[in-house]
Amino acid sequence: MKILLTGGAGYIGSHTYLALIEAGHIPVILDDFSNSSPKVLERLGRISGQPVLCEQGNVADLPWVQALIQRHAIEAVIHFAAFKAVGESVAQPLKYFDNNLVGMTRLLQAMDATDCRTLVFSSSATVYGDPASVPITEDFPRSHTNPYGHTKLVIEDMLSALQKSNPAWKVAVLRYFNPVGAHPSGLIGEDPLGIPNNLMPFVAQVAVGKRPVLNVFGNDYATPDGTGVRDYIHVQDLAAGHVAALQTLAAKGESFTVNLGTGQGYSVLDVVHAFEKASARKVPVQFAPRREGDVAQCYASTARALALLGWQAKLDLDAMCTDSWRWQSGNPDGYS
Ligand code: UFG
Repeated sequence: MKILLTGGAGYIGSHTYLALIEAGHIPVILDDFSNSSPKVLERLGRISGQPVLCEQGNVADLPWVQALIQRHAIEAVIHFAAFKAVGESVAQPLKYFDNNLVGMTRLLQAMDATDCRTLVFSSSATVYGDPASVPITEDFPRSHTNPYGHTKLVIEDMLSALQKSNPAWKVAVLRYFNPVGAHPSGLIGEDPLGIPNNLMPFVAQVAVGKRPVLNVFGNDYATPDGTGVRDYIHVQDLAAGHVAALQTLAAKGESFTVNLGTGQGYSVLDVVHAFEKASARKVPVQFAPRREGDVAQCYASTARALALLGWQAKLDLDAMCTDSWRWQSGNPDGYS
């Protein structure tokens, strides 16, 4: 299939690009490089051994996106292009409503106008808010605690209204847990701007010597070691989940919502210890107060993903840390 990847130069988009090529699809990247580097394109070309199709522009540019879908005869879209920093969304909510909600609306209009109504959408476990229990199944109640999470929830609702209005829409909503790791080549990986918000890139930067110490946000949670527990999933597994979702949409023709996680929870200290082992470096930590909005535990039920997509995560925490370290140590300044 010919597939448009909005935000295809970003962290998850670039890994999914390669997984799609391996599965025999033809991906076309659309990116404005507002939170990614054009240098990733050369790396993708090197790994895949094929020229990379990329269009630079914004997903909200309706006439341009419409023309692009027609020009490339796009059959399905995977929509990654969105802002995702929780703290920034609290400080600048309009930036998030504009980019995430207006961007999604314009993309859907472009798709509708061109009769291209197959979509895979990057949602997030953030839509579960503070879950009453774990593991989390897809029918848990949804809520939001920040504007970023709110945009994911609103888009899920937009998509279900759209499917009701026209059954020709085939939509896969993928709720990611905590994507980490990097491509085994070490040539592409996560390259956050400024101080990383997320645990794994922060740990990697401490290990490589860019930052002196990791602040562990809270050690008094009701978890085995008192630190927060999350479902870290290797970005390579996540990329494979997108291919499986696309193939399921094409084969069954029915919309669905599914968790993409491993079903396994690891604490902050578990991650630190695994990273120390993978990198053979010490990661100094200090305990700090809880971060506002954090939950104690969050991990997925993976039953629906297995039953519906025939997909399950294969790579463990050691592989996530080894691949993260290969990327971080080979590219201490990311793509720059
Ligand atoms: N943590 C630290 N120190 C840090 C960074 C994180 O101790 O410097 C801890 C957090 O308190 C938490 C765990 O590491 O216990 C994971 O934190 P992340 O920021 O890596 O991930 P979150 O689970 O908070 O959030 C991620 C994404 C969100 C998404 C959410 C869905 O960043 O976009 O998962 O569950 F919404």
